Amino acid sequence: MPNNDYLEIEGGVPLKGSVTISGSKNAALPILCACVLSDGKCRIENLPDIEDIHRILEIIAMLGAKVEQLGSGIIEIDPATIDSHVVTYEMASKLRASYYMLGALLARFGKAEINQPGGCPIGQRPMDFHIKGMRALGAEVVERGAVITASAEKLVGADIYFDIASVGATINIMLAACRAEGRTTINNAAREPHVVDVANFLNLMGASIRGAGTDVIRINGRERFHGCTYAVIPDQIEAGTYMIAAAATGGSVTIKNVIPTHLDSLSAKLMECGVDVQTQDNGTDFVIQVNAPERPRAVKIKTMPYPGFPTDLQQPMTSMLATADGVSDITENLFENRFNHTAELSRMGADIVIYGRNAQIKGVEKLYGADVCATDLRAGAAMIVAALMAEGTTRIRNLYYIDRGYERLEEKLIGLGARIKRICADE
Ligand code: UD1
Repeated sequence: MPNNDYLEIEGGVPLKGSVTISGSKNAALPILCACVLSDGKCRIENLPDIEDIHRILEIIAMLGAKVEQLGSGIIEIDPATIDSHVVTYEMASKLRASYYMLGALLARFGKAEINQPGGCPIGQRPMDFHIKGMRALGAEVVERGAVITASAEKLVGADIYFDIASVGATINIMLAACRAEGRTTINNAAREPHVVDVANFLNLMGASIRGAGTDVIRINGRERFHGCTYAVIPDQIEAGTYMIAAAATGGSVTIKNVIPTHLDSLSAKLMECGVDVQTQDNGTDFVIQVNAPERPRAVKIKTMPYPGFPTDLQQPMTSMLATADGVSDITENLFENRFNHTAELSRMGADIVIYGRNAQIKGVEKLYGADVCATDLRAGAAMIVAALMAEGTTRIRNLYYIDRGYERLEEKLIGLGARIKRICADE
């Protein structure tokens, strides 16, 4: 939970060596919520040991399920004892992914009550698509301020169209529809790798979901869902963060436990900057190797839903571009308030001007260590990349955001040669 600890980073060391990527946060969170749908026990593997996962497991346990840690990154959930369909403010305010309980509890129990979720302050983040989708399936959805209640005698498949390809709404409707009567079609569905991972998990439990990974997903409702064992995919955003950190520090890093196609948009953009990015098949696994030039070139970036450039990597990429050769332009298309990190980067000497959803970055020779804050999770990643590049010492506060999404961050960075330590406020 929030405290006054901070990270102290002595910058200027090119990262070298190899780093192993953990399980995907944004796949693991809905998969854990989906366990509520099962008639048996589910064993989920390759879970990252991060705050968001601890919080969602607390919510699942508070609903009445049995949650047991079987080993490192392995959890067993037995939903048979769930006796509540209410996600209170106290539970929901801790993380955005608590909204997946709307679809999961509605499908399982015909009723769900959630509070508008917490999460990173990067924009308005409404839930209108989620609610529109639940209503199309026949649920009565009532909004009383921050409390959303959904109920249905039975859910019936429907044709649903989203105005914007939303990750959260696509997954929430998949959760609700897989127990509905008949066929549901989600048009303009999100295509992110974690959408596919959730569909694969639901199918293993007995669901019938086709087309995940394309923009049309078809779901044939089923009545019974059995327990199963499933391993979560690697985290593409964590992998991307280390690729950017390697490139930004002039380093040479091998990324292990990664699915390279998930990172095609980043790899292409890094190559445009002059960074050498190679994918290798080492027989059992793929690895990505990043070898950086002395100074990357400036580029233009527009964030887009997958397979476009991910909004979650826009922030760490801004740090790298702060010292690139030339003027870079970034357009943030997904979230209207996702440039908070640029004010902190300016404190380190970056030259960045914001015009609405656009950032113009004039590459400077170097960044300088400073006292900065992580204003949200990926802004925290941006601060880490900047601190690793900077001359001198940077202290990063608000670590709770970073701990929500990055497993064993200091250990992994120290393994790459970084000079980083966590200072406990009461030391
Ligand atoms: C998820 C991720 C987040 C990532 C984002 C985009 C989780 C827990 N979070 O967030 O890390 O940055 O995808 O890849 O997985 N929208 C609406 N109405 C809705 C839903 C969304 O207007 O009902 C809009 C949003 O404001 C945004 C866009 O659709 O502009 C995409 O949002 P969405 O994909 O839903 O993001 P999240 O699920 O919130």
